Amino acid sequence: MSDDDHAVPVFVLATANPDKTTEIAAILGQGVALRPRPSDVPEVVEDGETLLDNARLKARALVEATGLPAIADDTGLEVDALGGRPGVYSARYAGEDATYADNVDRLLEELGGVPDARRGARFSTVALAAFPDGSEVAAEGVVEGTIADEARGAAGFGYDPVFVPAEGDGRTFAEMTPDEKHALSHRGRAFRSLADRLGVDQAP
Ligand code: IMP
Repeated sequence: MSDDDHAVPVFVLATANPDKTTEIAAILGQGVALRPRPSDVPEVVEDGETLLDNARLKARALVEATGLPAIADDTGLEVDALGGRPGVYSARYAGEDATYADNVDRLLEELGGVPDARRGARFSTVALAAFPDGSEVAAEGVVEGTIADEARGAAGFGYDPVFVPAEGDGRTFAEMTPDEKHALSHRGRAFRSLADRLGVDQAP
């Protein structure tokens, strides 16, 4: 723990996903001190019906295990032409052990032949801070966009190579710098809003 940690609130990060960890740390900046998830805490079964349920399950498990405030997030990609799927099942879309590439391939396959005008989609993230006294603060972030015809770009993770945000310039999230993605993204919006509600500084 550095001396600076005493000046800002400390949270354990519930995610073990290094891609999400990097993004959350970059978005929150120096306003909070993030502790990594202890490796001996077992994976939480994400069997909630909503993003909020799953974010709460993950954050609460870390509060129980560490006695510290914890931050978790849960994200879903809702595709209009698929009736909102994969949604809360985004991580397991192509099967239990699906890789990011497997999920992207399945999405492109399912949307084969769907015209551009009907490829609307959105990412939603719920970011949640849970405290040892049982209280919590939650915030949601949404970004509207479309699913590209093919994967483009190597940055980011998950479905980034096929997601084109509506407020962007036609590039997928995977073709953007991290800062460009965070400025528009579901996770950027959710965590900036969470930081706001927690009253923490968002200095870079
Ligand atoms: P999680 O439940 O928050 O871990 O997210 C579920 C799945 O959504 C992940 O496994 C990724 O495939 C996908 N996902 C989450 N966040 C992003 C993102 O920022 N870009 C692209 N895909 C994402």
